[in-house]
Amino acid sequence: MCGIVGYVGNKPSLDVLIGGLKRLEYRGYDSAGVAVIAPDGSLNTRKRAGKLNRLTDDLAADALHDGTTGIGHTRWATHGGPTDGNAHPHLGDDGKLALIHNGIIENFSELKAELLARGHEFTSETDTEVAALLLGDEYRRTGNLTVAFRDVVARLHGAFTLLAVHQDEPGVVVGARRNSPLVIGLGEGENFLGSDVAAFVEHTRRAMEIGQDQIVTIRPDSVTVTDFDGEPVETREFEVAWDASAAEKGGWSSFMAKEISEEPDAIANTLRGRIGDGVTDLSELDSIAAALKDADRVLILACGTAYYSGLLGKYAIEKWAGVPADVELAHEFRYRDPVLSPGTLVISVSQSGETMDTLMAVKYAKERGATTLSICNTQGATIARESSAALFTHAGPEVAVASTKAFVAQVVALYLVALHLAELRGSRSPEEIADDLDQLQALPAKLSKVLESGERIADLARGMSDTRSVLFLGRNVGYPIALEGALKLKEIAYIHAEGFAAGELKHGPISLIEPGQRVFVVVPSPRDSNSLHPKVVSNIQEIRARGAHVIAIAEEGDVAVLPFADDVLRIPLAGPLFEPLLAVAPLQIFAMELAAAKGLDVDQPRNLAKSVTVE
Ligand code: F6R
Repeated sequence: MCGIVGYVGNKPSLDVLIGGLKRLEYRGYDSAGVAVIAPDGSLNTRKRAGKLNRLTDDLAADALHDGTTGIGHTRWATHGGPTDGNAHPHLGDDGKLALIHNGIIENFSELKAELLARGHEFTSETDTEVAALLLGDEYRRTGNLTVAFRDVVARLHGAFTLLAVHQDEPGVVVGARRNSPLVIGLGEGENFLGSDVAAFVEHTRRAMEIGQDQIVTIRPDSVTVTDFDGEPVETREFEVAWDASAAEKGGWSSFMAKEISEEPDAIANTLRGRIGDGVTDLSELDSIAAALKDADRVLILACGTAYYSGLLGKYAIEKWAGVPADVELAHEFRYRDPVLSPGTLVISVSQSGETMDTLMAVKYAKERGATTLSICNTQGATIARESSAALFTHAGPEVAVASTKAFVAQVVALYLVALHLAELRGSRSPEEIADDLDQLQALPAKLSKVLESGERIADLARGMSDTRSVLFLGRNVGYPIALEGALKLKEIAYIHAEGFAAGELKHGPISLIEPGQRVFVVVPSPRDSNSLHPKVVSNIQEIRARGAHVIAIAEEGDVAVLPFADDVLRIPLAGPLFEPLLAVAPLQIFAMELAAAKGLDVDQPRNLAKSVTVE
């Protein structure tokens, strides 16, 4: 949600800023803007509503006087619509200072009233402009951008990452963060700031974390980090685990297509080094081993697709580790006085590791003494740092707004945790655990096979491009997949879609079925010992009898579905808990191809942004 990049060094700053914004555009694409300090000491800004190419076209038509210090922003609108005027940067100190912001300044109305009383005029409807004007006033008083920042952040409530430059301090970019992301990139004779490492990975893989409530000042040859009172703080450097090419589209039609194709690797990489000889090898969890062993309840907190991965985690934890597990939407959990027993293990799941709803829920659980484990895909992310322990998925950078490869990696990580809990508690035999781990390791090859049917799914999707509503049914571990299939379709193809537990159909949703209604059904394996297969096949018959057009996702060799399904998409044989990891890709591909058939931007669906850093 809003992408931020800052640069000081020896290169033309616009190249660095625009390159960084291209990689951060998935965070928001309502408008984009830059501010640079030119060699003559002037501050030059340009900003445009719309996607980044509106700004780059504008810069190509009318060049901006460039320099080697600058900041850039890509916006996901919160306060004020997506207009040129509301685009960042915003100016202070009579146009000598430029500021960009990610987050929400909650007390902006009161600050605005104060600034108006001081005689300031506002040119936008944003909450950000108050920070720019306040910072301008403080700069005038202190003559030092870093010191001025300290005074301003002390007055702000809410969540923010702020970056600013002042024309009287060329070669300096100052940033501050509270509950919104910011990372430092360390170069030779140049330094960077970014909402995430994608902003600068093209230039350097050396990165440094910035903690909560800290201020950073970068110059070409130095980086200084302090707390909000100006006291030095300890910093941690890390090496970015992927290079810039990992976040390139390559020859793919979209990032989403590329990322779905990377799912087998995402699983293999998440498992790599974490399986010993028939046992889990999760040294990352050693520090919380006692809490894992003694937990009397597991609570999984997440949002969106990550929440659906959590639903699958619940099935695995209860089945394998025998611990009661609940899954909650993080934003619902946080504001309803939840009861946390001392033995509750809280597991958060987040691709970005920055989702504000999840972060707030984790902080809340931590304040109440819970042990918190984060499953996260992004190095240096806030949620991982705020948690007692972190298990990183290694899905690689996910650029498309719709989460795909991160989902399968999250499920695999949750399954590893479930098996680890089972080992610690002796709830599953070593042979069973070894077999489960083998099944996990067999998934990449099986999933590659599923992906081979991409063209067939594309044909199916193209034949449905006029569809206005699609339903998804699943039962047990197929249910989260039905929910995820529906979310993907809503999100990128703008088609009304609902996922239901198949058993719930007769309690209401079946009245939605009318002739021609498209229904995807995730069919459990006929080999499944709890005999859900015949029940789901009966559900298919019930909706078919009412005219539904059924697309079944069923195991190879399952002939029982053939008489009742209009189309069958096959997945290889796998154990019950592993089937969902094979069944999800056809639904992701279907949504992607349907969106493409409708001529939509698959990677950047309307109104959305990848990393949701506001509550
Ligand atoms: C859907 C999607 C979102 C995210 C959700 C949580 O495709 O991407 O529903 O899953 O916003 O994001 P993270 O995992 O970054 O916390």
